[in-house]
Amino acid sequence: MKFKIAVLPGDGVGPEIAVEAVKVLERVGKKFGHEFELNYGLIGGAAIDAQGTALHPDTIKMCKKSDAVFLVAVGGPKWDDPNAKVRPEDGLLAIRKALGLFANLRPVFMYPELVNNTNLKPEVVKGVNFVVVRELTGGLYFGRPKRRWTTTRGRRAVDSMSYSEQEIERIVRVGFELARSRSKRLVSVDKANVLESSRLWRTVTIEVSKDYPDVSLEHMFVDACSMRFIQNPRHFDVIVTENTFGDILTDEASMLAGSMGMLPSASVAGIPMPGERIFGLYEPIHGSAPSHTGKNDINPIATINSLAMLLRYSLNLSKEAKVIEDAVAAVLKEGYRTYDIMGEGCTKVGTREMGELIAKKIIG
Ligand code: IPM
Ligand code: MG
Repeated sequence: MKFKIAVLPGDGVGPEIAVEAVKVLERVGKKFGHEFELNYGLIGGAAIDAQGTALHPDTIKMCKKSDAVFLVAVGGPKWDDPNAKVRPEDGLLAIRKALGLFANLRPVFMYPELVNNTNLKPEVVKGVNFVVVRELTGGLYFGRPKRRWTTTRGRRAVDSMSYSEQEIERIVRVGFELARSRSKRLVSVDKANVLESSRLWRTVTIEVSKDYPDVSLEHMFVDACSMRFIQNPRHFDVIVTENTFGDILTDEASMLAGSMGMLPSASVAGIPMPGERIFGLYEPIHGSAPSHTGKNDINPIATINSLAMLLRYSLNLSKEAKVIEDAVAAVLKEGYRTYDIMGEGCTKVGTREMGELIAKKIIG
């Protein structure tokens, strides 16, 4: 079959990681007889430099004409001035919003080979396997008013955490559906003891839960959740939460999987259903790691596993997705590691070598 994918490598280590993921994709194409048409675009700092905006309207058009969007990372010190008019991150937020990608799925999976690679005890992180469903186009990131100004008594700034019941309902449904397809347990994370938006979140979640009598629902405050991640992460199977909480919790959760370099993500505009295709954007949860740029040491696995999610959800190629995931697992089993997941007796490899090892597992 023929598929169209928009590739947005972004900034920092983005381009060098994208190269490795594309190698993997090419092998999948060859093995299964698919043709992947890749159209490259700029986003973030690269787009600011070349086009004067963090996301050009033509790039959005190109993405909309594709079956899926594949993105690596944006940002870097060059564009970090807090007074800058435009920031690389604006491009990322704009593309999520423009494509209506309100549901961000972030699987947190501990490979058995990496249990000794965290700062936690192996018996705590062993078997960690949960998914955070993060709301992606609302809350503090997009709420209005959002501004900075000077008053007679000094400078002030405001961000607004705002949610409508429709925004809450649609994301919570994604959580329930996913929970239904897994262990039938859903944890909804909020701060309903303090925030009005969280009280609405909880009320709507309870209402939606009536449609899912087979799924058990637990409410948890976000502060308690961050504690439980460290205390007993196996408690979790599917978590649903709002934008900012999801952002913070998933960086924390990446430590349960050994490294930020391990966590993929899928951002979609609905409920992904097995056997169906849903448009989406796929990116690792990590950033552009500017200090690693050009050093050939960054871990490409989060991005390569994001590619697997792309094949599964947006192209309905679950067999092909599994082949990629199995290739990653096999390479880890053989003891190859990038620096961030390096362990005793393992072989340290760079970005390129890791990409090639994984690609070669698909077709030698
Ligand atoms: C993420 C990132 C982004 C976010 C940044 C780069 C804007 O941290 O995808 O988690 O906050 O959503
Ligand atoms: Mg983040």
